[in-house]
Amino acid sequence: MSGAGDPQNRLHWYGRRRGHKLRPGRQALVEDLLPRLRLAPPADSGIVDLGGAFAVPVRDVWLEVGFGAGEHLAAQAEAHPDVGIVGCEPFVNGVASLLSHVESRGLANVCIYDDDARRLFPSLPDAAIGRVFALFSDPWPKKRHHRRRFIADDTLDQLARIMKDGAELRVASDHGGYVAWALERITRHPAFAWLARSRRDWTEPPQDWVETRYERKARKQGATPVYLCFRRRSRT
Ligand SMILES: C[S@@+](CC[C@H](N)C(=O)[O-])C[C@H]1O[C@@H](n2cnc3c(N)ncnc32)[C@H](O)[C@@H]1O
Repeated sequence: MSGAGDPQNRLHWYGRRRGHKLRPGRQALVEDLLPRLRLAPPADSGIVDLGGAFAVPVRDVWLEVGFGAGEHLAAQAEAHPDVGIVGCEPFVNGVASLLSHVESRGLANVCIYDDDARRLFPSLPDAAIGRVFALFSDPWPKKRHHRRRFIADDTLDQLARIMKDGAELRVASDHGGYVAWALERITRHPAFAWLARSRRDWTEPPQDWVETRYERKARKQGATPVYLCFRRRSRT
């Protein structure tokens, strides 16, 4: 974890950490399974050993920021058993939901950082992550809250550092203001190239897409999600 006095420690979490009381089975998962899957950055501000973070050897490591109830993460982990997926989510009810997917599907390639992803970034190695998902991040619609948005210049600098050359950044949102905000910041960042060639590339999800809970809800309410895929440019 970043040390005291580090700017990452001054990050304030504005979202929810807890919802309704967990059912006993979910509470038991939080107490027994979470400690085994938790990604704990070294106390001395060191770098996490991602190779040793998973119960199985993995060929690549992906990161999902704000996995909500974890259906997308669990489905990706099941579809790619040779990829380790780090899920970041401070909302304990969401973490408990992911844990139940991990247990029922017997997933060995998942680990969890149950806090703000931005606090984890300084402890991740350079050029270590092959894909990042930031799906339906909180849009913080009020102007005075925009600085709470996940996509921000400093977060993109961190993502650019931890992502491998050629790695993919997937962002999705149904909030027009957030889409415009994210697109403006990511396309002006020198490390990222937007992959869209035609309208279909952002109106339709990528082929291996797994619908998220929030996305399903948004569609039911008549919203139109937008899918933005970027490539981390080569460093050379
Ligand atoms: C609107 S929900 C979407 C959840 C899920 N991605 C989906 O599409 O169903 C946004 C989630 O992102 C989480 N979140 C927001 N900012 C985060 C951050 N900096 N690090 C980790 N999780 C974050 C919130 O706790 C919340 O669960």
